[in-house]
Amino acid sequence: MSAEDVATRLPLVGTIATSGFTTAYPKVIPVAYARRLAEAKASGQRCAVNLYTGASTGEELDGELARSGALRKRLPFQSTPDLRNRINAGEIEFIDMHLSHVAPYIEHGILDPIDAAIIEAVDVTDDGRIYLSTSSGMSPTFISYASEVYIELNTSQPVELKGFHDIFLPELPPHGRPIHINHVDDRIGVPYVRCDPAKIKGIVVTDVREKTPEFKAADDTSRAIGEHVLDFILHEIAKGRLPKNYLPFQAGVGNVANAALSCLAQDSRFGRIRMYTEVLQDSVFDLIDADKLDCASTSALTFSAAGVERFHRDIDDLRARFIIRPQEISNNPEVIRRMGIIAMNTALEADIYGNVNSTHVLGTQMMNGIGGSGDFARNAYVTIFMAPSIAKKGAISTIVPMVSHVDHNEHSTQILVTEQGLADLRGLCPRARAEVVIRKCAHPMYRDALMEYHERALAIAPGKHTPHDLARAFEWHLRLREKGTMQG
Ligand code: COA
Repeated sequence: MSAEDVATRLPLVGTIATSGFTTAYPKVIPVAYARRLAEAKASGQRCAVNLYTGASTGEELDGELARSGALRKRLPFQSTPDLRNRINAGEIEFIDMHLSHVAPYIEHGILDPIDAAIIEAVDVTDDGRIYLSTSSGMSPTFISYASEVYIELNTSQPVELKGFHDIFLPELPPHGRPIHINHVDDRIGVPYVRCDPAKIKGIVVTDVREKTPEFKAADDTSRAIGEHVLDFILHEIAKGRLPKNYLPFQAGVGNVANAALSCLAQDSRFGRIRMYTEVLQDSVFDLIDADKLDCASTSALTFSAAGVERFHRDIDDLRARFIIRPQEISNNPEVIRRMGIIAMNTALEADIYGNVNSTHVLGTQMMNGIGGSGDFARNAYVTIFMAPSIAKKGAISTIVPMVSHVDHNEHSTQILVTEQGLADLRGLCPRARAEVVIRKCAHPMYRDALMEYHERALAIAPGKHTPHDLARAFEWHLRLREKGTMQG
């Protein structure tokens, strides 16, 4: 079929679910669909579409549908400027949720049922085996619950991706059973998604290439963050609290996590690791080049243009090292807790008690979403949050008296690290946490002001357990909103 043929079969009012977890989202059907929606809207027809995916997608999907004006609801994660702007303008409902919760919400009927699933694949067989491309995300569950399935067979994605995936979906409660992943590289499923062929209503062949992200190169800040993390890990090994050959690592999305992992890879004190994560970014090649990666389990491959080239070149060797899993498994709390993961995610801001905001600028504007950070942070063996201590050339302190939004609370955050230093918050009461966060993590530009806030809060707060000066807790955010800087 052509993409336009498929677009005419998709609903003007309804729910679409697509492949896509940073990569591997459909690229031609959504463009045709957005055009049809915009035309229908212009002719006065009612259009209201819900879009479910694994995580973020690209312009051809999120951008086009957002601009069509027909997108009503989006979940669970996004990072496309036009979509983000419309969410923040209150035009599109965004359900920011733990990635591991998407499947149960669909399976239990909490979300609207899926009219059509659109899935990027590298192959599909007559008997309904669908071979996914560079991510798995929610595709297996969407295929199973959608009334109709459309495939975008993308010939620009290498067919050699066959064999990377391990598709296994857990049973629903009360029939749930243990998930038998005991080691990062355990395979427990099959390399394809099975679908009733009668449900596959159309296949569109395309060769549109995916637009690739660019990661900021590691700089002194990310190098310092990486070094603090490494010092901490080596210290934990010396104390016998981490095994000598480490525990599996998870590293979050974005520049900071990518750069910090690259820096770990380049440090001669750092040994071979395994990764159990949801996204592999370019830093995984630094680990491979330094002979420091045994194997990596992920839900998606998210490489820059150079990373994609490298992946295509080495694809046959990498099949033995990378496993791509559905997000129900990559982000599964049971597996994460049992294997004992070292989770490294990025904060937008953290407060003196260790509460972390990963999503909202100034408490109200959505950035991307919580993604899988909560799945890992809540269940890891060690939960590390990283951030540069300042943003926007110092106009913003990422360490604040009180976070303007909470994604990860003080009970989950164990280690907080900026380029200034690392605060180990385990076993500390809130007052002690505040002192160590200010002393170790705050930028010198803001350190005294934070200490002054803390001391005043201690003096005037009726409760001395977690002292706050409520009248001044958001003074810095208000100053940023009004004057463009947190500096007094
Ligand atoms: N207030 C306002 N803006 C801030 C800020 C703050 N406290 N802290 C950082 N920023 C800005 C930066 O200046 C930068 O802006 P720019 O794009 O205009 O340069 C932007 O936020 C991104 O920051 P950057 O330092 O490049 O970080 P990143 O690419 O590592 O992204 C997050 C950081 C928090 C946005 C990203 O990690 C994220 O979306 N996390 C939530 C989801 C998650 O953790 N998923 C992982 C699960 S595996």
